[in-house]
Amino acid sequence: QGLNDLARKAGLLYFGTAIDNPSLNNSKYMSIATDSHIFGQVTPANGQKWMYIEPERNVFDYSMGDAIIRPAIQHGQLRRCHNLVWHSQLPDWLTGTNYTKSELISILENHIAHEVKHYYGQCYAWDVVNEALNEDGTLRSDLWLTTIGPEYLELAFEFAAKYVSPGTKLYYNDYNIETINNKSLAVVSLIKSFKKKGIRIDGVGLQSHFTAGSSPSYDQQVANMAQFTSLDVEVAITELDVRVNLPDDATKEAQQASDYANAVKACKDTDGCVGVTVWDFYDPFSWVPGVFAGQGDADLWWGNFTMKPAYYSVAEVLEE
Ligand code: G3I
Repeated sequence: QGLNDLARKAGLLYFGTAIDNPSLNNSKYMSIATDSHIFGQVTPANGQKWMYIEPERNVFDYSMGDAIIRPAIQHGQLRRCHNLVWHSQLPDWLTGTNYTKSELISILENHIAHEVKHYYGQCYAWDVVNEALNEDGTLRSDLWLTTIGPEYLELAFEFAAKYVSPGTKLYYNDYNIETINNKSLAVVSLIKSFKKKGIRIDGVGLQSHFTAGSSPSYDQQVANMAQFTSLDVEVAITELDVRVNLPDDATKEAQQASDYANAVKACKDTDGCVGVTVWDFYDPFSWVPGVFAGQGDADLWWGNFTMKPAYYSVAEVLEE
């Protein structure tokens, strides 16, 4: 039985993975990635981001997103669509021009309208806004905040709600919001303010990019998830990985296994946590070494396609 089979038996909707476009060329990788017993859900790691979808103003290219989404549909895997509004991976035409507030709002609506309509009925969820917060809970000073102001968040969710297919969930997605802290409390405030104003938000994505040995505990994660589910939004672990300081050894692998298991168990034990997505499952395709020098081995499968202790610890907590 694969991880998705076990997750579904445990009451979750899915166990999934991110897939990046270059990985589509690796047939051994793809035989695992498309196996719905193992992964019942897929997230494009890059293919649906602004710079690829709208490389020139009002010119749309869905080829990279479709290359990930279409096989997932064929293989009966759910899709988490990622993402509509972010500060990163924006095209040069957007970052290199000083648009006025009203121009940028219409650019935002146009982008969301096109992309959301293209993927109409194809997404279990959309990450509508990604990583809008600083660690202290203030809003990140990016293009959106500086030109539009804090209302860009509400506008993004309103535009998404206007064009999305019925049933597709609208998520706020961020990292370092997996414990109760200033940043996660800011997400709580955001949800409360949306609800008060009647703006739709359906879920919070807990990215969960962890480091072996300093990952949040099971109790911390459960308490954190509860502050969201008590507001009547669902949660999901959307980008789980647990990096280690290289070189790896058996002790670190055991720590990693326990950190993975705590996260998956927290989701399993939380009503309203719908599923777990790993931010890739295969070390050679992990984003970690490119960003954190000296760290890596963050995924469930080794480069030789064997499974790590972390794979077995995840399977075990799902089976318990
Ligand atoms: O497309 C160019 C290609 O033309 C060029 O030859 C190549 C050379 O480096 O770079 C390619 O762009 C890379 C892009 O991924 C596509 O592969 C960028 O350099 C690289 O920085 C980019 O990294 C992605 C990262 O987001 C960008 O911030 C990672 O693959 C992707 O896994 C990562 O995903 C994010 C989530 O979206 C949000 N949460 C954090 C997570 C991890 O950083």
